[in-house]
Amino acid sequence: ALVSSTQMLGEARAEGYCVGAFNVHTLEMLQAVVEAAEEANAPLILQTTVGTVRHLGPEYVAAMARVAAERARVPIALHLDHCQEEELIARCIKAGYTSVMIDASMHLFAENVERTQRVVTLARAFGVNVEAELGKVGGVEDDLVVDDADASLADPLECERFMELTKVDTLAPAIGTAHGIYKGEPRIDFVRLEEIARRVLAPLVLHGGSGIPEAQVKRAVALGMAKMNVATELRIAFSNAIKATFEEHPAENDPRTYMKRAKQAVKEVALAKMEMCGCTGKA
Ligand code: 13P
Ligand code: ZN
Ligand code: NA
Repeated sequence: ALVSSTQMLGEARAEGYCVGAFNVHTLEMLQAVVEAAEEANAPLILQTTVGTVRHLGPEYVAAMARVAAERARVPIALHLDHCQEEELIARCIKAGYTSVMIDASMHLFAENVERTQRVVTLARAFGVNVEAELGKVGGVEDDLVVDDADASLADPLECERFMELTKVDTLAPAIGTAHGIYKGEPRIDFVRLEEIARRVLAPLVLHGGSGIPEAQVKRAVALGMAKMNVATELRIAFSNAIKATFEEHPAENDPRTYMKRAKQAVKEVALAKMEMCGCTGKA
């Protein structure tokens, strides 16, 4: 069965490694990261954005993830990424999601606290993990667009206060990473992260995992990041493999052929990220 992400992330933070959380949009993408986790013997978080939940329906996503969890030897959680709507969160929990993110980071602190508290209350009854965000992660993720000028870093004191007030399970503090591929390297504020990690003992979540150089990922993990979200690099690998197939074989019309190659490409990216996160062999 699907497990809550609370336990796997608690262990990751305690032992100083990070669990890969991968955004999937199709059955083959889901299978690809599950195969990667099995091969790496790593715990796994499957996640879908709000856009993907709308595209496929939460019940279909949960059904696919449940089958994967029944068959896999590694623990698998299903997480709803960056959701602003409480109604959709409730629907996903009802469908079988074992972890949810309430992203009220665009609101003032008090409002963020209030919205997060309501979701924590709802989720507790189902044993579902809750993630919240402080500061604003920049870049583009689905319908969520945050310009560089609007992106802001999390304040360590606010993080501590936020945890006391909301009792949320996991916290995503913005520390300079962004959604999508970076122009150049991300400028991660490691001093800030260290200060946040000193004040917040809960597992921390690193957003914007695509394009972060390995050394920076490892440094962030050593400082307390226990979950890393990866979306864009998987989409690019998947789409590029399909494009390459059609370039070589314009008449190709069998989805099984081009999906097979796309699946393999996604699996390779996922394996590389698991290695970077240090969760290989931790299942
Ligand atoms: P990337 O698209 O940069 O991998 O970010 C993923 C993410 O943070 C999903 O919430
Ligand atoms: Zn994110
Ligand atoms: Na990124």
